[in-house]
Amino acid sequence: MTLETTFFNHTFANPFMNASGVHCMTVSELAELDRSSAGAFITKSCTLTERAGNPEPRYFDVPLGSINSMGLPNLGFSYYLDYALAYEKENEGKQPLFFSIAGMSAAGNLEMLTMIENSAFKGITELNLSCPNVPGKPQLAYDFDATFDLLKQVFARFTKPLGIKLPPYFDFAHFDQMAAILNQFPLTYVNSINSIGNGLYIDPKSDSVVIKPKDGFGGLGGEYVKPTALANVRAFYTRLNPEIKIIGTGGIRNGQDAYEHLLCGATMLQIGTELHKEGPAIFDRITKELAVIMEEKGYDSIAEFRGKLKTMNE
Ligand code: FUM
Repeated sequence: MTLETTFFNHTFANPFMNASGVHCMTVSELAELDRSSAGAFITKSCTLTERAGNPEPRYFDVPLGSINSMGLPNLGFSYYLDYALAYEKENEGKQPLFFSIAGMSAAGNLEMLTMIENSAFKGITELNLSCPNVPGKPQLAYDFDATFDLLKQVFARFTKPLGIKLPPYFDFAHFDQMAAILNQFPLTYVNSINSIGNGLYIDPKSDSVVIKPKDGFGGLGGEYVKPTALANVRAFYTRLNPEIKIIGTGGIRNGQDAYEHLLCGATMLQIGTELHKEGPAIFDRITKELAVIMEEKGYDSIAEFRGKLKTMNE
């Protein structure tokens, strides 16, 4: 039995990765992911220049997950591109690296993509259109026309493999509209979902919010978001051209959660909140748990059950 997963012409040892933002800010955190049992890993979403992000406290573990308003703290585009190029030089033939960007504007995104295009980078770029935490900057992927315009400009200049990270959608009309836009472009993948934006958690003892930015409003992750994440993975899996793969992110804490994302159609799986809680050792635990479930159900490979969710109309 194998957890091997083929994605972008490469066979990864397993489908698990970190979600961008967790354990991937510095070269030393990235090196820990590289040494872990994760099948692949991704860098922190970066901006053209270094950002300090929002004031602390800005990340808080809560009983059913997490709430955060990090505000895209990162060490700047060049830091991560230098790391990526050095990584590729040292690890030729190893699994491709995922490189996440989240420009402060369309122009910023296009500038970073042009630099990636003109560099020797051979991995996969993730364009994050869904950070909910930068005051004054709405999540671009909730603006359908702006998303279409940006992707048109992107694919006029960018020829390397590209995926996009989406926010959760909550209406069939929005799944349909976004899928119709995405199907017009040669995307390598869609990553669903980013955190559920702008939740509010109240500490029952102090009657206070638990994070400082935006008066306590922040993106929700963890157990809270799994049903929404599964719905988005399933909705895009059943609407997108089969060439566009799905990365499932949201509420993956154990092997059963991972199995459900795969059943909905995900090819790779990203872990955020639970990686933040447990550290990179989670990848040992969760690969074992997924293997046990597959064995119990009599599957030798993920391909045998990917996307095979049953509904009550069959
Ligand atoms: O605030 C943050 O840095 C989060 C980014 C994201 O959710 O994409």
